[in-house]
Amino acid sequence: MSEFIQNIIAERLGGKMFGKDTKIYKFEKIKRAKRAALEANPGAELIDMGVGEPDDMADASIVNVLKVEAEKKENRFYSDNGIQEFKDAAAEYMKKRFGVDIDPITEVNHSIGSKPALAMIPFCLINPGDYALMTVPGYPVTGTITKYLGGEVYNMPLLKENNFLPDLHAVPEEVAKKAKILYINYPNNPTGAIAPVSFFEKVVAFAKKYNIAVIHDAAYIELTYGEKQESFLSVPGAKEVGIEIHSLSKSFNMTGWRMAFVCGNEVLVKAFATVKDNNDSGQFIPIQKAAAYALRNPQIISGITTKYQRRLKRVADILRKNGFFVNEPKGTFYLYFEIPKGTKSGRKFQNAEEFCDFLIREKLISSVPWDDAGHFLRFTVTFEAKDLQDEERILNEIEKRLSSEEYIF
Ligand SMILES: Cc1ncc(COP(=O)(O)O)c(C=O)c1O
Repeated sequence: MSEFIQNIIAERLGGKMFGKDTKIYKFEKIKRAKRAALEANPGAELIDMGVGEPDDMADASIVNVLKVEAEKKENRFYSDNGIQEFKDAAAEYMKKRFGVDIDPITEVNHSIGSKPALAMIPFCLINPGDYALMTVPGYPVTGTITKYLGGEVYNMPLLKENNFLPDLHAVPEEVAKKAKILYINYPNNPTGAIAPVSFFEKVVAFAKKYNIAVIHDAAYIELTYGEKQESFLSVPGAKEVGIEIHSLSKSFNMTGWRMAFVCGNEVLVKAFATVKDNNDSGQFIPIQKAAAYALRNPQIISGITTKYQRRLKRVADILRKNGFFVNEPKGTFYLYFEIPKGTKSGRKFQNAEEFCDFLIREKLISSVPWDDAGHFLRFTVTFEAKDLQDEERILNEIEKRLSSEEYIF
């Protein structure tokens, strides 16, 4: 068989070596360990605290709008850069929830989820040699595409001692001068940290000093417990330097629906819309209408956060009882905590990948390891439970499995 396709794959994907890399990546290792654990324990229940998706479906009222609108002939067309009704709802939402003024004509555009928006932003800003400042651990899409375009990535570690905020002063001057993008994400995946307004003020000053566009990924902005996460755009000067990306995936249990919006700086929103127009032809109009309904009914969110808060508290308690140092997060549905050095039974863990592997194989608990800035594990509390009683059963099972070992820190 001709090998020519293999030989013409672009260098950004590895060229001729594409797909032949023998390194096994983190998520593949997790998948393999899960398979092996289930094979070794047939019929056993694997508790999945690795997935980053809500367990429930969208509220019935949102689903109903989709049903009604999908029946209408006039909603069948390409929507290109989106319907005005959704933009209006997004602008109203920004005002009502965060006190931010957004022009619904020029300062907002829908996106088929926030992931594609994060992937398209580098096309608006990056020339070969330009830098994107990314946070690690973190959601890497913008950095990956920056590299595809011949740009460079500078990783800023999120450290516990800095409340998981990047230290902007630690960015070398020559990198800052060549940077075009500063990516931040609060509430933060995976650390669960939220960002104070004072940090956003520093970000605006830094962006202005070095002419860097700020991309604030606000995918988890509605999932907070107690303290609110303010919008980056609520800070004076923010709209001059950046945009914020909001997603309906987590706030409204709409991950598979693919709806998000980009808002803020008019020129950057326009550049995004131009790139997007050459990538896709817009989300299905009934989905945009259902999303507009959701944004106009944010009371739906409280049922979702109540559940996560209850579960986060319980799992954090279980971890603390077992000697782990963990605080309940201020936002997201993640618990992020340092791994133990080993167990009293003689196991030793060099890094989070090893501890994650141990928990899957020995305790049938799946999670996600992060070894970018220290050695941490991420537990997600979006595991599926049939009802409250089933949730309690799963939580008790988590407790039983974790407590069957003594950890050394
Ligand atoms: C930090 C962060 N940003 C963006 C996304 C993508 O969300 P969406 O469903 O809107 O594409 C995720 C999804 O897990 C995420 O964790």
